[in-house]
Amino acid sequence: MKRRVAILISGRGSNMAALIRAAAASDFPAEIAVVISNRADAAGLERAGQSGIPTLVIESKPFGRDRAGFEAVLQAALDERGIELICLAGFMRLFTADFVRRWYGRMLNIHPSLLPSFPGLDPHGQALRAGVKISGATVHFVIPETDAGPIVMQGAVAVSDHDTPDTLSERILEVEHRIYPEALRLLATGRVRLDGDLCRSEAGAGVGNFLISPLA
Ligand code: GAR
Repeated sequence: MKRRVAILISGRGSNMAALIRAAAASDFPAEIAVVISNRADAAGLERAGQSGIPTLVIESKPFGRDRAGFEAVLQAALDERGIELICLAGFMRLFTADFVRRWYGRMLNIHPSLLPSFPGLDPHGQALRAGVKISGATVHFVIPETDAGPIVMQGAVAVSDHDTPDTLSERILEVEHRIYPEALRLLATGRVRLDGDLCRSEAGAGVGNFLISPLA
């Protein structure tokens, strides 16, 4: 049985599209049962609709600071659809610790940096200002702290002196689209387990290919 997944978005939804694409394969262990946006104007909604995925808007703005109120409506929508796993894909709203605890081990997020470096806003700018030579993307389990939690999978790119936040973001996005479906595959097939604050997986390490940057 395929695991039933909800993707939560707030914007353009390119990671959502990558997950939908991967899940279209008959042997993918999860199905995207619904895409939920907290903004009616999220471009990703149209993309999801074009792929034949049911969409739902639960506007968060009217709830203001009442996070629990928003989450009660969200939880009801997830229950109604028998959702087992959540993928946050550019979902720009913080959850209460209660909601996060309820979904612990079953809710993934993707962030465009090699966490724990550069959480929060403007991760690409943060990476460039720090002068790192390698950056990337991280899929992790969600915990109450923002952009933190047991790391499921990471992918790296070389950073060049000519990079701007836009060019770096473009390259990291390609990695995001590659690793998010793979991380979901691991979770949906039960090949990851939580070990305290760490995530262990049965997948082999990506050995044999190291990334050195810059090349002299
Ligand atoms: C992605 O780069 C994702 O990693 C980032 O928002 C973008 C959403 O793009 N998420 C975060 O920064 C979470 N802190 P998308 O809507 O095209 O997937």
